[in-house]
Amino acid sequence: MKFTTNILSALLCVEAAMAAVPASRSQARHLARRQSRGRRTAPFRNATIAGFTPDATVQSNWGGAILESSGVTEVSATANAPKGSGSSTAAGSAWVGIDGATCQAAILQTGFDWYGDGTYDAWYEWYPDNAADFTGFDISEGDDIKMSVTATGANSGSATLENVTTGKKVSKTFTDETSGSLCQTDAEFIIEDFEECDSGGSNCQPVDFAAFSPAVAFTDCSVTANGESVALSKRSITEVEVNNKDLTKCSTSGTTLTCSYV
Ligand SMILES: *[C@@H]1O[C@H](CO)[C@@H](O)[C@H](O)[C@H]1NC(C)=O
Ligand SMILES: *[C@@H]1O[C@H](CO)[C@@H](O)[C@H](O)[C@H]1NC(C)=O
Repeated sequence: MKFTTNILSALLCVEAAMAAVPASRSQARHLARRQSRGRRTAPFRNATIAGFTPDATVQSNWGGAILESSGVTEVSATANAPKGSGSSTAAGSAWVGIDGATCQAAILQTGFDWYGDGTYDAWYEWYPDNAADFTGFDISEGDDIKMSVTATGANSGSATLENVTTGKKVSKTFTDETSGSLCQTDAEFIIEDFEECDSGGSNCQPVDFAAFSPAVAFTDCSVTANGESVALSKRSITEVEVNNKDLTKCSTSGTTLTCSYV
């Protein structure tokens, strides 16, 4: 029977996945911490945003390119996974998204995090919910990952990561998300000093921003709004700023955004 066979093979897959949990101690610590605290992108926050309560240490949580528009439906780019360095709890991320800069009510996004201990997470998020990890997509240093989000309405869409070397994809479809509604008024390609929160998104704290190398290049940056493509040159640039110091240096050329750690 097909039904039984499917359940059986699903169970076998779960067992295989559990058996494959990495044994390294840094990875185990990392997983234990990630299970007790959730990862979350916060909307763009810097001193010019109305209602922003400055954090004691983080003056700007995003580095990268923001494009303001209306009717944004698709954002995609391919980024290389850099190596993080510093403590095992220091981290940073690279992602693409819709909203978060001008909307602030919801963000549809996907990307990956690096940690100072050399570990990575691949995730999707519909802010204000915490991010959720994609499973079976283990990122390593130097991987080229295509990140795409598509909004099909204010409360629906999808997020996809693809290993461009192998074509392997993981995807999440959102239907009737009630936590927050998209405005579809901005698109972004971002390096973030993200937050860790309790489940339910409370008690959020920014992570220590991890140094990363080499620079992250977002290539083939593509934005579709009102059915037409929007040039990356329409962007404004922001930098991650911690303790009143810029920790990223971002610039664009053609369809590429490059951000280095400084
Ligand atoms: C804050 O963001 C605005 C809008 O992107 C930008 O013009 C401004 O330079 C940023 N300020 C800082 C201190 O990053
Ligand atoms: C992507 O493909 C490369 C080359 O096969 C592989 O080494 C890497 O582990 C893959 N990464 C992911 C996230 O699939």
